Amino acid sequence: MTEKDIKNIQELFNFNKSFEFEFISNNEEDTKKLGKEFAKYISIGKIITLNGELGSGKTVFLMGLASYFNLENEVCSPTFTIVNEYNTKDFPIYHFDVYRLKNSDEFLEGVGTDYFYNGACIIEWGDEVIEDILPKDTIHINITKSDTNPTVRTFRIWRK
Ligand SMILES: Nc1ncnc2c1ncn2[C@@H]1O[C@H](COP(=O)(O)OP(=O)(O)OP(=O)(O)O)[C@@H](O)[C@H]1O
Ligand SMILES: [Mg+2]
Repeated sequence: MTEKDIKNIQELFNFNKSFEFEFISNNEEDTKKLGKEFAKYISIGKIITLNGELGSGKTVFLMGLASYFNLENEVCSPTFTIVNEYNTKDFPIYHFDVYRLKNSDEFLEGVGTDYFYNGACIIEWGDEVIEDILPKDTIHINITKSDTNPTVRTFRIWRK
């Protein structure tokens, strides 16, 4: 995590203009540090989507984020529930994995958007499944794996 990365994250959460940057993670630890840095800026109403193939590091990012609140041990993939709740001192974090939902209609029927206003939402596979109902201020993270190095990931992080 460089000074530049820290600046970029600050800029990203400064919601007055669109913004995009890249972060290279060389290993699991880098991804956790990225998540932990993001944790400083989240609050009720913030929405972050995590997108990228199986095993790209979406849940690892969230573990790093949760570690800022000493909640890393509670993080697990919400496989049967769609959403897990982790409680910080000040607000709940809602951890979604919408991989098994067909589309946003299914999300609206089964889950609903109240979560978006009641806590900070981190949504694995959000862009693939419920992109059409995400608020404009949503922060999007696209993770790609390196073809050559098994522990390298590129994070493209952007906001409209
Ligand atoms: N740079 C890296 N960042 C994150 N994880 C890494 C990295 N390098 C290797 N890994 C490994 O890749 C795996 C990422 O798993 P993780 O559960 O976070 O993926 P995921 O994107 O949530 O997958 P799924 O779509 O199945 O939920 C872990 O086993 C982790 O150790
Ligand atoms: Mg996951």
